[in-house]
Amino acid sequence: MSHPSAIDTDDSRLRVCPTGLDPHRMPNHVAVIMDGNGRWAKAKGLPRIMGHRAGVESLKRTLRLCNDWGINALTVYAFSTENWSRPGDEVNFLMALFERVLERELESLINEQVRIRFLGDLQDLPFRLQELIAEATNLTAKNTGINFNVCANYGGRRELVLAAQKLAQRSVRGDLDPAHINEKTFAAELFTANEVDPDLLIRTSGEMRVSNFLLWQLAYAEIHISDVLWPDFDATALREALSDYQSRRRRFGGLDPVASDYSKT
Ligand code: FPP
Repeated sequence: MSHPSAIDTDDSRLRVCPTGLDPHRMPNHVAVIMDGNGRWAKAKGLPRIMGHRAGVESLKRTLRLCNDWGINALTVYAFSTENWSRPGDEVNFLMALFERVLERELESLINEQVRIRFLGDLQDLPFRLQELIAEATNLTAKNTGINFNVCANYGGRRELVLAAQKLAQRSVRGDLDPAHINEKTFAAELFTANEVDPDLLIRTSGEMRVSNFLLWQLAYAEIHISDVLWPDFDATALREALSDYQSRRRRFGGLDPVASDYSKT
């Protein structure tokens, strides 16, 4: 389903918070499960890989919009540990696409002050891609704009197991008293160390699953499911997600101070 492009102009840039959104209540960190590339391509009679190619354009647009609208971090699910089970041709295409995008977009990322990081088991990615990831990470590390986290060969359970292993190793070495393991020490061993947790999770294409994405970090995130297929996700769809987010009362497990009537408890 495609949304009318009310504010998605040719260059997709809108340097101020769009009308109807409260600039003071923007999420700090938005996470996205970019779903529906294959269905988008199928609906157009195109091969699946064309959906991924269009997905890159959608990702570039979303990153710019988030940066322009004052969102401090964007984390996207680009390739899961489970995605290796896709047909070899599609996996190879995706790896080559990641390489090409990094080569082509590095200059823009630097110019637009984006700080890019890749989260996941990176050592299993093709060597050339690992080199490009290291280069992009280093060259953008001191940028002052949005934190752009790309989850590649990422699995939430795997991330938790790795964190547990690292803490156990430190304990065995005598560097860490197991009694001192707490949420803070645990979070510091995750791929997302030094990043705030997402406030909002967007999943496109109408699917309502977490799919092994940021299992620890999404503990208190608000969830917005968009029916839009990822390649069609535009400024209007992002504004809808943010408006939905701003309509929620976040309680973090406590009571809503406005809605709750303590006299009745
Ligand atoms: C899900 O759609 C999409 C992916 C598994 C790949 C997403 C990757 C990109 C958009 C490219 C990102 C590039 C960089 C450099 C970060 P799907 O194939 O599962 O769609 P379907 O559910 O309709 O089959």
